[in-house]
Amino acid sequence: MAQVRAHLPDAIVEVPDQWIGVANCDLATADALVCLLLDRIDESVLARAPRLRVIANCAVGYDNVDIAAATCAGIAVTNTPDVLTDATAEFTIALMLAAARRLAEAEALVRSGQWSGWRLDQLLGQPIKGRTLGIVGLGRIGLAVAERGHGLGMRIIYSEHADVPTPFAAQRVDVDTLFAQADVVSLHCPLTAETKHLVNAERLARMKPTAIVVNTARGGCVDDAALAEALTAGTIFAAALDVFNGEPKIDARLLAAPRLVVAPHLGSATFDARRAMAQRCADGVIAVLTGTRPGNLVNRDVVLRP
Ligand code: DGY
Repeated sequence: MAQVRAHLPDAIVEVPDQWIGVANCDLATADALVCLLLDRIDESVLARAPRLRVIANCAVGYDNVDIAAATCAGIAVTNTPDVLTDATAEFTIALMLAAARRLAEAEALVRSGQWSGWRLDQLLGQPIKGRTLGIVGLGRIGLAVAERGHGLGMRIIYSEHADVPTPFAAQRVDVDTLFAQADVVSLHCPLTAETKHLVNAERLARMKPTAIVVNTARGGCVDDAALAEALTAGTIFAAALDVFNGEPKIDARLLAAPRLVVAPHLGSATFDARRAMAQRCADGVIAVLTGTRPGNLVNRDVVLRP
């Protein structure tokens, strides 16, 4: 954030070099807050920040920020769209392939010293080419994943509120049909009241026994107990999760379940994407504090504090 400081030497921007959590930030005099997705920004935080004019959330998802409360207080909220789309899509494909080909089990076997040699039936997985990829939420990231899935020879179906134009064949279906038809279900929706526990026992029961669930969106979109049960009972083939309810804690039932690939929320974790996300935060802060509406403003109806 050296850049913000160079542009605005007098502004007080709470941006610790290390993540210390918003609870430990001195917000009483802050003009701007740069926060991470583990920071819950609610009314109690805003009450500690009487001068705050902008919250720059260093993520594209902003379910950690009470947007209505920020808007009501005249505080701009910005996020980091676009710059992490490719990184997240690539990681989604990595997780899909890892789950389909049982990479976590394979690595564990080799490292355990128990691998006794090539076997015709060892750690058999699922093919991808010719299978159906079901995308829940065909926004920027969903579309980028669909594009890559199409490149791998997959048929694309998606659920959205309306048709989305795509440069390849893709069919819009309702969510329940998507779960029934897809060989891989990949979540790319924001976490909202509507999408909370979108992956639940009923939808998991509709899935093929060879099917895979991939989640690089938000942990809250999945009912952990139901997914753990489906994996344990073998009613679906595998799952790959990059995000978790209440992360960094992870439901013990999930960790005990078979055929689950896990990652510590790494979707956007490339040098390029993270640098660009930090830049978008800086740009948003500079824009608001110099009286301009940033392009990455989330609460577009906000009447900004003078
Ligand atoms: C986001 O941006 O919302 C991701 O979860 C982290 O990059």
